[in-house]
Amino acid sequence: MDSLFVSPLKKIKAEIHVPGDKSISHRAVMLGALAKGETVINGFLASADCLATVECFRKLGVEIERLKDGGPLAIKGKGLKGLKGTKEVLNVGNSGTTMRLMAGILAGQPFTTKITGDESIQKRPMMRVVKPLREMGASIDGRQENDNIYAPLKISGGNLAPIEYELPVASAQVKSAILLAGLFAKGETVVIEKNQARDHTERMLEYFGASLKVTGSGLRVTGGKDFDSKEIDVPGDISSAAFFMVAGLIVPNSELTIRNVGLNPTRMGIIEVLHRMGAEVEVRDETIISGEPRGDIVVRSSELRSTVVQGEIIPKIIDEIPIIAVAATQAQGVTEIRGARELRVKESDRIKTVCSELKKMGAKIEELEDGMIIEGPTKLIGAKIKSYGDHRIAMSMAIAGLIAEGETTIDDAACIETSFPGFAGIVKKISQ
Ligand code: S3P
Repeated sequence: MDSLFVSPLKKIKAEIHVPGDKSISHRAVMLGALAKGETVINGFLASADCLATVECFRKLGVEIERLKDGGPLAIKGKGLKGLKGTKEVLNVGNSGTTMRLMAGILAGQPFTTKITGDESIQKRPMMRVVKPLREMGASIDGRQENDNIYAPLKISGGNLAPIEYELPVASAQVKSAILLAGLFAKGETVVIEKNQARDHTERMLEYFGASLKVTGSGLRVTGGKDFDSKEIDVPGDISSAAFFMVAGLIVPNSELTIRNVGLNPTRMGIIEVLHRMGAEVEVRDETIISGEPRGDIVVRSSELRSTVVQGEIIPKIIDEIPIIAVAATQAQGVTEIRGARELRVKESDRIKTVCSELKKMGAKIEELEDGMIIEGPTKLIGAKIKSYGDHRIAMSMAIAGLIAEGETTIDDAACIETSFPGFAGIVKKISQ
């Protein structure tokens, strides 16, 4: 398996771009496939996860092509009734977003589809989407274990009835699966969330002119109404930018600018937490394109202090907690992260993997059932790190390696391709 070698840096002075937002890229392909006419996506993230979404739709009869190498993606949308059944098994690879959002779309189709993914996907809980989709009338089978259900899933859809559903976990994937299924239901589907998770599906439904209403009491989608194709411009992924934001803060004598990063308020938790830690993070030149705000982020080396992270902000930083933990190892005091049990069912058990790997580098970090406690600042030491096949663990530890003494090796770093092709190239660029 590919290993990544990282050496400490004395400074960073650079300007970089990060690849397109993963959540927005998935949704652009999905809504583009369901729209009528040709949707063109600029800035599409051509990572393994998003390409898995593209492959799923190709198998369902949708023509999708790259207009030129590395250029925009063009999707010949089929309308709400245009997908074709396939005997082939859809394979989502490592992508939980593809699995759960596709489950919502497949629940609305008048045919049966089998869908699965890699070893990690087959361990991730699917009952959270299966339950509401069954309530809408889909018939879904899978591997049943300890009151949960796991991929491979077999989904027989069609004839959906609308539901009103209050989300038991703050999850954009579950919310989106129900809203997408709602596009095919007869009547108005309502999703109620107590604690807001990322709202890219809602924004994109509105941008496409689909029938979404956001009211105080819930998100409402009316089924059966076709919508037209659009051109979409995907901003850089703030979750990818987060790795380099922290790099710029913890490497001494640094100033790093990251251009054209998505600044959706439901994803900005990382900036709020870093500000609370005393970080110099500046947001510049904000604009809104294709319904999503974006701008440039500038970070400078900062003396960090500890913070407590819990409650409503957790869904807004859920993917950034591993890199926040790295920042916390350099912060003065005791940082507490609580109420983040969801981390245990991500691409790896991120509470366990963050703690075990940062410990190898000398961090003072303690595992909690629903989070972690980190005491800083600690001088980190280079180590041999395992990624557990989890892209965000691999990248977080690589950033930790930039301030560690000696060399850090990340084993099985190929998983970085799931969300951030070109990560190693940017590390090399900022090292010059
Ligand atoms: C995502 C939602 C989040 C996040 C994942 C992407 C999305 O998962 O962790 O990386 O695009 O909807 P949950 O909805 O399970 O929290």
